Amino acid sequence: METLKIERIRGIKGEFTPPPDKSVTHRALILAAMADGLSLIHNPLISFDTETTMDVLRALGVAVLCEGDRLLKVLSGGYKTFKSSENLPLYCANSGTTARLIMGMLAPRGMYAVLDGDDSLRGRPMQRVITPLSKMGADLQSAGNICGGSMPVYIKPASMFPAGVKGDVPSAQVKSAVLLAGTQLDGITSYTERLKTRDHTEALMPLFGADININDLTVSVSGGYPLTAAALTVPGDISSAAFIIAAALIFDNSEITVRSVGINPTRSAFLEIIRKWGADISIDNMKSGAEPTADITVRSSFLTGGVIEKDLTQKAIDELPLLGMLGMFTQNGVEIRNAEELRFKECDRIAAIVNNLRELGADAQDSGNTFTVTPYNKKNIKSDAGLRSFGDHRISMINVLLAKRFGLNILSGDINYINVSFPGFLEQLSGLEVT
Ligand code: S3P
Repeated sequence: METLKIERIRGIKGEFTPPPDKSVTHRALILAAMADGLSLIHNPLISFDTETTMDVLRALGVAVLCEGDRLLKVLSGGYKTFKSSENLPLYCANSGTTARLIMGMLAPRGMYAVLDGDDSLRGRPMQRVITPLSKMGADLQSAGNICGGSMPVYIKPASMFPAGVKGDVPSAQVKSAVLLAGTQLDGITSYTERLKTRDHTEALMPLFGADININDLTVSVSGGYPLTAAALTVPGDISSAAFIIAAALIFDNSEITVRSVGINPTRSAFLEIIRKWGADISIDNMKSGAEPTADITVRSSFLTGGVIEKDLTQKAIDELPLLGMLGMFTQNGVEIRNAEELRFKECDRIAAIVNNLRELGADAQDSGNTFTVTPYNKKNIKSDAGLRSFGDHRISMINVLLAKRFGLNILSGDINYINVSFPGFLEQLSGLEVT
């Protein structure tokens, strides 16, 4: 396999605007498709994952037009006008968010549909969405048997009803599926979760006229009304910004300001955690709104490390492998607990990060729901380490950071996965490098 030699860099400096938020873009597209009229999505993320959602919506008869990469126009007659797709199945590629949210959106529509995905998505659990939607009368069947039910998933016409649903797994995608179905059903549907997950769906739904009520861990929607078109601006993606922030932390001579990044409290525990570890970080220009934003300045820092568990684990779910990698550069190492959900992402992210860090010569342990990484010893680092992406965009970006830190070869084919969430990552990082 072809490899790419990545040279060591001394640090990064300058200003950086992160790519727009992936989770928010998916939701904005789906809500706009469910709404009647012309919606405008400013600053959308255009990446493999969000293009997947656009293609699925187009297959259902919704017009999605990209005006450059700064504006998406979505024209729809509302959720009652979706057409049965002629090009079955609806292909969700690598995107779990597309698959699970579209299931919720389509389950009450009284139509047949099949959802499928790539090998990675076919290996991810879908029963977690099928079970709560079935409690609301949906007729969904999975043809795969990973974790009790996986892709492809068949949706059949069913007479659904509103219900009070309790979440078994902490998942914003499951919560969102229930709310997207509930808003189409006469009456009140509520979803109660055990741990607060990212709240973008319930934050955006009122912009489209949905009647949402939030009471601690319970979100209710009073449904049966049409949704109406809206205009919104997508904030910068904290999960992508985290890679640049982490780079500033682990390279000497670094100072970076990240502009207009989303700091939704259900998503931004990464900042809270690194600050607790001693990161030199300041947060300015805070702007409120359905999705609050701020500018974040971070400098090379001495990090203590520590334990991440419970709520913090959930609120930093997509940043945990990166925080694990940062453990190598801390004084005491890191221990990440209650991280079982990481096993069900684009790959088993605990196994992937532990494998790669060990391959590199660092000390990392995988023990069930917990993984630990201890501070690295320079003399153990292997310059010929074979880091692998496991087909996962976030693991691939971590490998790039490690390669730039130690000067390593990485697999050229692995770079492509980064386009799932952060097109232009390598170029942007290079533009910030101090040589
Ligand atoms: C997401 C929710 C999280 C997250 C994923 C995006 C979303 O997944 O890991 O990257 O947009 O709702 P879960 O819902 O499985 O926790």
